[in-house]
Amino acid sequence: MLRFETHSPAQTEEVAAVLASTLRAGQVLLLSGGLGAGKTAFVRGLVRGLGGEENEVSSPTFALMNQYEGRLTVRHFDLYRLSGPEEVCDLGFDEFFRAGDGVCAVEWHSVAGADFWRGMDILHVRLSGEGEERAITVEGEHEPVDVGRLVQLGVGVHRTA
Ligand SMILES: Nc1ncnc2c1ncn2[C@@H]1O[C@H](COP(=O)(O)OP(=O)(O)OP(=O)(O)O)[C@@H](O)[C@H]1O
Ligand SMILES: [Mg+2]
Repeated sequence: MLRFETHSPAQTEEVAAVLASTLRAGQVLLLSGGLGAGKTAFVRGLVRGLGGEENEVSSPTFALMNQYEGRLTVRHFDLYRLSGPEEVCDLGFDEFFRAGDGVCAVEWHSVAGADFWRGMDILHVRLSGEGEERAITVEGEHEPVDVGRLVQLGVGVHRTA
């Protein structure tokens, strides 16, 4: 597991951008953290890291899904307004989670329930903190992360087993 400590939105975006280069098609990032924790900021960095238009990244609160093209397509979901796993399937979203032709980033994944995500190629990204301070943990299988640039920028980096 990796743990990062960021001190600004820009640093959170940079953590995501560096992580992005370690991702492969088919991965589903489940983003946890309360309102304003930085989930959408994280996706902005992810899109930048994959060569997409980061300026276009906004919360898919009403659109439910936004899509960005890059080295890998990023599909950004917000399930906050959905009623449960049936509605997620009715909208056809489960096909994207299993399609494997890009990466998915999902806010409010708990709406679908824990069982829904079993068997998928999951990375858990958890954000917490207040003020400008955020802790970000990343759990799951990914290629080695080049943390040198992050350390240079003043991001705290910790590895745990
Ligand atoms: N270190 C930090 N990392 C990320 N965001 C930060 C940080 N410090 C302050 N912020 C601020 O916190 C807010 C994060 O908003 P963001 O929309 O990314 O949250 P969210 O988790 O997607 O919320 P929601 O659940 O409402 O969609 C932004 O206003 C951002 O400027
Ligand atoms: Mg958001």
